[in-house]
Amino acid sequence: MNKVNIIDHPLIQHKISLMRDKTTGSKEFRELTSEVALLMTYEATRDLPLKEVRIETPVAIAKTNVITGRKVALIPILRAGMKMVEGAVSLIPAAKVGHIGICRSQDGVNEYYCKLPFDIKERDVIVMDLMLATGNCASAAIDRIKETGAMSIKFISVIACPEGVEKLQARHPDIEIYTGALDEGLNDDLYIVPGFGDGGDRIFGTK
Ligand code: URA
Repeated sequence: MNKVNIIDHPLIQHKISLMRDKTTGSKEFRELTSEVALLMTYEATRDLPLKEVRIETPVAIAKTNVITGRKVALIPILRAGMKMVEGAVSLIPAAKVGHIGICRSQDGVNEYYCKLPFDIKERDVIVMDLMLATGNCASAAIDRIKETGAMSIKFISVIACPEGVEKLQARHPDIEIYTGALDEGLNDDLYIVPGFGDGGDRIFGTK
């Protein structure tokens, strides 16, 4: 069974609290989303392999480490995941970015857009969504990415709930999950409680 990593770093916890506040406006919510995603990407990339190199400093030759031979692809789920990529890409500027658009439909989920890096087979993929709610969209996105033969896949969400974690774990037991909080659960409208409401609307100011 995959691991759920709750990233309890104080900076992440503080920023998520600000995001939860209903009086936080879109501009600040957007900035916080990007900042939290950056910090979570830092945690999710701890296992990138290093190799030792020799670099000439102004003083001497240093034996020092660089990331070796691994390429990253960041794949946000539209639309709320998009803002997360900004933070992540500032940390990994060489990452390629794909996009998957998945929405809820009556009989489950519907993929309406998918554009992935052509060399995804050579990449470690980080799938990003603001929230892991029912787990249906995340599961469908990961189904799709697995079809491409990506080297590895991780999933990051700012917050999650038990229903979403269980769904993702059942469908993709090999995928490691990173999140900042595991909330109480879903309400009848499939919103995370306490959550932070409609993530897309809060990011884009559409409501
Ligand atoms: N999507 C949202 O925008 N909010 C939730 O709480 C759950 C899913």
